[in-house]
Amino acid sequence: MSVHIASTTAPVNIATLKYWGKRDTALNLPTNSSISVTLAQEDLRTLTSAATSASFERDTLWLNGKEESLDNKRTQDCLQDLRDLRRALEEQDKSLEPLSQWKLHIASENNFPTAAGLASSAAGFAALVVAIAKLYQLPQDMSALSKVARKGSGSACRSLFGGFVAWEMGEQADGSDSQAVQVLPLDKWPEMKAAILVVSDAKKDTSSTSGMQRTVHTSDLFKERVDTVVPRRFNEMKEAIVQRDFPRFAELTMRDSNSFHATCLDSYPPIFYLNDTSRKIIRLVDGINAFYNETIVAYTFDAGPNAVLYYEEKNEQKLFAFLYHLLSGVDGWKSKYGDEQLKAFSDAFSEASEKVEFYLDDELYKGISRVILTRAGPGPQDTTECLIDETSGLPK
Ligand code: DP6
Repeated sequence: MSVHIASTTAPVNIATLKYWGKRDTALNLPTNSSISVTLAQEDLRTLTSAATSASFERDTLWLNGKEESLDNKRTQDCLQDLRDLRRALEEQDKSLEPLSQWKLHIASENNFPTAAGLASSAAGFAALVVAIAKLYQLPQDMSALSKVARKGSGSACRSLFGGFVAWEMGEQADGSDSQAVQVLPLDKWPEMKAAILVVSDAKKDTSSTSGMQRTVHTSDLFKERVDTVVPRRFNEMKEAIVQRDFPRFAELTMRDSNSFHATCLDSYPPIFYLNDTSRKIIRLVDGINAFYNETIVAYTFDAGPNAVLYYEEKNEQKLFAFLYHLLSGVDGWKSKYGDEQLKAFSDAFSEASEKVEFYLDDELYKGISRVILTRAGPGPQDTTECLIDETSGLPK
């Protein structure tokens, strides 16, 4: 039995200009364009292996070692599109093996705990699409493949690129121009870093898929957001990124997070993603920027209470003076920094502390379960790791 296998890794991305609202739910076409930063894969990534063989009996998916159903429309749409692209190749070149007709075995693993409540669907669908595209040796570029990943989960289309990425909403009814493009490659602004504050909150939030449709149908603010605010902000943010203007980028990012959560509150019944800890983090970021009299850090929140803080490497000590002081007891520091560096953050706080005028909440740590200290990163990567056994075609 001959088994063909291909593997890839794909990153998580966190939007700085939020996708919130669909104009077509079947094709996952958004009501506005969005922008994101792709995060480094050493901290957060999905690894996916895809295999096919004439002898496989049914399409099968294993997530983190456990078999999961493939019986949902979004995944089926992605598989169908990929098979259609492969079939077109086979029709052109009759010497190709008919992989498009064979069943698929897909195994996928995250290197971060799903319990952290971080959107893993973006990395998951991006990895699924890229692994199968590689298996099928498809000639399509990343923007073309992003249209397939988009059908799995809207935000997944942005995980096909590294660095700074835009999802252009497009105009066509069939979605043929709703795709991800690169705004700035990683190597042009590699100093961009991210600290994720994982907020302890066991409650299940309204899923983004249903939350955004409630906003589309019930919020008055939403109309202003998609008609006026976001189109202008989309151009301004792209410009700030290309110019590597951090203070501008940061202000636009924070304003857009606020605007998105305002439309959630304006939905009826209202949707709450931020909790008290999230709001304390917003105050803290505001206090830190005011303290330095310069915008050195930006917060952004997705459909949950976790905060993602963006900052430039040169300002790390300034930021961590405060973050480490308040969160030193929380998991996540020691895997990244040695004792000496951690002491430097403490010393930086001691130096700053006399001049601090804003309120520092010594109990912030109680609402935060861990910090993930990471940075901007590249797009999907080839890998020598493989989750499927070449002989049996089953997970290793
Ligand atoms: C708040 O991409 O998860 O994170 O397309 O329904 O799968 P579906 O939604 P999803 O929504 C992400 C919403 C967000 C903002 C963003 O990532 O742009």
